[in-house]
Amino acid sequence: MKACVFDAYGTLLDLGSAVAPHAAILGEAAAPLLALWRRKQLEYTWLRTLMGRHADFETITRDALAYALEALGLRAPDLEPQLGRAFRMLDAYPDAVATLTRIRAAGIRTAVLSNGNPDMLGEAFVRAGLTALLDQVISVQPLGVYKPSPRVYAMAAEVLGLPPAEIAFVSGNAWDAAGGANAGLHVVLIEAPGTPAERLPAAPMARVRALAEVPGVLGVH
Ligand code: LAC
Repeated sequence: MKACVFDAYGTLLDLGSAVAPHAAILGEAAAPLLALWRRKQLEYTWLRTLMGRHADFETITRDALAYALEALGLRAPDLEPQLGRAFRMLDAYPDAVATLTRIRAAGIRTAVLSNGNPDMLGEAFVRAGLTALLDQVISVQPLGVYKPSPRVYAMAAEVLGLPPAEIAFVSGNAWDAAGGANAGLHVVLIEAPGTPAERLPAAPMARVRALAEVPGVLGVH
């Protein structure tokens, strides 16, 4: 394996950190809000790709947030702009730094392939302290289509100058893992124990419980 490419949101960056600072205002609505916000965000990427009506990921993220807040009847003043900003400043998962460091030390290039806008990703990775550990950050934005279009994963291989078979792709999103495997990448899926396998046409090479297990799967010790 010459390169290890990571998904961003829900893989290196912890989505829960978008709502955690607002736990006092949100109370018990925090978890349902995050779940609906994320579900709508993803649906809008898929639907807009199918409709041929691209909008950048920041716009989609804010549209999904507005929908989720209205659906749950959350109307606290300033909540919408504050949560919108919080999505640009997510925390890395606690094992992200050590995982990226180990993989790079083994001579494997590290990269990100994400739906995020280049500026969102740039800001998030600086804030999360991961910028120096990533050789490349690849945004789908220039393509105008979102994951899991095969064109997205093919673009990553092209940017890295490697055949898909030389690339590992790590995602905490099962549908994204299927997309990467469908495009010929060697996929490591991070998932909670007991999660059923997706009934989709391409399966991951390995299923692990945390980022910290990824180097072992790649043969890095
Ligand atoms: C991304 C989303 C799918 O970073 O998590 O592309």
